[in-house]
Amino acid sequence: MGEIAAIVLAAGKGTRMKSALPKVLHRIAGRSIVGHVLDNLAALKVGKITVVIGPGMDALAKEVAPHPTVIQQEQLGTGHAAVAAREKVGKVDGTVLVLFGDSPFVTAETMARLVARHESEDRPAVVVLGMRPKDPTGYGRLVTDTKGNLSAIVEHRDADETQRAIGLCNSGVMAIDGAVLWDLIDGIGNKNAKHEYYLTDIVAIARQGGRTAAVVEAPAEELIGINSRAELAAAEALCQQRLRTRAFENGVTMTDPASVFLCADTKLGQDVTIGPNVVFGPGVTVEDNVQVLAFSHIEGATLESGAIIGPFARLRRGSKIGRDARVGNFVETKNTVLGKGAKANHLTYLGDTEVGAKSNIGAGTITCNYDGFLKEKTTIGDNVFIGSNSALVAPVTIGDGAMVAAGSVITRDVPPDALSVARGPQVDKPGWAAKFRAAREAFKKSKDR
Ligand code: UD1
Ligand code: MG
Repeated sequence: MGEIAAIVLAAGKGTRMKSALPKVLHRIAGRSIVGHVLDNLAALKVGKITVVIGPGMDALAKEVAPHPTVIQQEQLGTGHAAVAAREKVGKVDGTVLVLFGDSPFVTAETMARLVARHESEDRPAVVVLGMRPKDPTGYGRLVTDTKGNLSAIVEHRDADETQRAIGLCNSGVMAIDGAVLWDLIDGIGNKNAKHEYYLTDIVAIARQGGRTAAVVEAPAEELIGINSRAELAAAEALCQQRLRTRAFENGVTMTDPASVFLCADTKLGQDVTIGPNVVFGPGVTVEDNVQVLAFSHIEGATLESGAIIGPFARLRRGSKIGRDARVGNFVETKNTVLGKGAKANHLTYLGDTEVGAKSNIGAGTITCNYDGFLKEKTTIGDNVFIGSNSALVAPVTIGDGAMVAAGSVITRDVPPDALSVARGPQVDKPGWAAKFRAAREAFKKSKDR
């Protein structure tokens, strides 16, 4: 393949989303819509990607960085948007792919088919990605000549009855010959129903100039564009289905796959088992033979081989659960490393904490990592036993092999192999309860009289 450059059009406000956020920043499987487009392009080895954005979309520029952005000051159509990228893109000795930022699922394979068609012997100046949606209303129709060559794209609004009867539609993705791209675009006018500059007009312009245009088809569900919240939800469902299928293919068991939510970047090893109602946020790596039990919520975490999580575990960013370690019900971890075989089985918060190998964190243990101003670290060595309902006030270190008595509030470092008891000492008063009861009963009787 020759040089490939890409222009992603994303300047539209996405009015139908009814959102303060630019449309393409909405998320599918934890990744922005435009992020999906960039991921797909990355798989194709595209040299330079330029993103066309609208004024004031700084968050979008940040999201697509380090790819350069250009601002289309006014939204006067897809052809006008391409012009905004002209200086940044410059002359391309090869193929220029134009894509829409709101169509997240166009695969690298499909893009490669477009490029290959452009590079084939007859070298069409423009190759358009076509589809046959169930309902073609609203789409541009692909008008072909008797030889099956593409002769024009007619927008729905501008199409007559015969043209509207055409089922083959424009997906919006095009591969254009870099040598003629800007000449073709210079020919675009705005004499149409919307008085916009349509990029799609370059097909007819190429034909008038004696060049050819061609169509490559792909399944409609790969080419969906997102314009509303309902379409966003439908795209999420579709993406989840694909991610689950990929997980099955990699050797993952899910007892109720429909209730498991994955992120585009979730990495799942072999023989991983996932129970019902589990949510994976961004940045999760799960190694082989891990069990994630029902109702767990995991993000920004690594689960090493053999670990067992949940039910009802919450692992937050920076959590690393070591080999064969165990995190049980109602346990929350944040920025916390659990060593090999360590256990935190019940009702615990571990924040900014390091737990050594084989240590046991008793039920109800809390690391007090925040004083209202700063976060501090708790370090727990190997083979440590923390008794139930203990509070470890950071910064604090518990040495290897140490024990902390249940109900302790630990505010100083504990030496290795020591026992620390940090609670009120037990006082026993023989017969006190019986005497108390007798006195109260007598008093109550005197009042009843
Ligand atoms: C476009 C196509 C149509 C195709 C359909 C597929 C044109 C003229 N029409 O129509 O043939 O069937 O997509 O979904 O190209 N954008 C800008 N600046 C603008 C206008 C649009 O950056 O001035 C961007 C939008 O952010 C969006 C994309 O271009 O990502 C498509 O724009 P949109 O207005 O949705 O085009 P459609 O009317 O859907
Ligand atoms: Mg659209």
